[in-house]
Amino acid sequence: MSTSSAEVFVSTPFAGKFVKSALFTLLLIPLAIPIYWFYTNALGANPIETINRWTGDWALRVLLLTLAVSPLRRLTGWNNFIQYRRMLGLFAFFYVCMHISSYIILDQFFDFGAIFDDVIKRPFITAGFTSFLMLIPLAVTSTKKMVERLQHRWIILHRLIYIIGMVVVLHFWWMVKIDTREPAIYAGILAVLLGYRLFYYIKRKI
Ligand code: HEM
Repeated sequence: MSTSSAEVFVSTPFAGKFVKSALFTLLLIPLAIPIYWFYTNALGANPIETINRWTGDWALRVLLLTLAVSPLRRLTGWNNFIQYRRMLGLFAFFYVCMHISSYIILDQFFDFGAIFDDVIKRPFITAGFTSFLMLIPLAVTSTKKMVERLQHRWIILHRLIYIIGMVVVLHFWWMVKIDTREPAIYAGILAVLLGYRLFYYIKRKI
């Protein structure tokens, strides 16, 4: 496969670091925006709901971006994409933590009895909680040391991300109840990413 000039650019250590820093800064923007809204009184009539939904949206978006890395690498031949996957995955987890913190601190005021009731009684919260539990082992094993230690088991464990994606879409779907257009878009993106992976897997087997 021939190497493009853009690929040569991102292959150099300096450019690689530059792209990583630029991506890191970009990924902080969804955190900066609600902080800006807070200081400009622009969080709307229900600030807690705005923050909770915003962080939930970005957790899901960055999660889908993380899932898009492998297909993008295969489609473009840019192997360097892979070096940004870990950072994307950790940012997805960071926004999940922000989302859950906003629920526990701002929405429920640390009322763990009410939180427990929510997890048990409200299916969309049960789904969100389940996806969070599944994300923890992935975040814990994201270090280079863990990748080396777990080897093939790491790959198997990290396939969990597709199931997590489905459970999160379900979390969103069950939350909206009537107007399902937005979760349907995310479900469609997830289906394409999963379909691509399945197609590639079957192609390799035959
Ligand atoms: C313990 C785990 C979780 C809890 C308790 C939780 C809780 C919530 C709550 C209370 C809402 C808003 C409901 C409303 O305003 O009526 C919400 C919405 C949402 N959550 Fe979660 N969530 C959890 C996990 C997750 C995870 C892991 C993700 C993504 C990776 C996620 C993504 C979303 C999205 C996309 C929305 C909808 C935002 C919108 O309306 O645009 N949640 N969640």
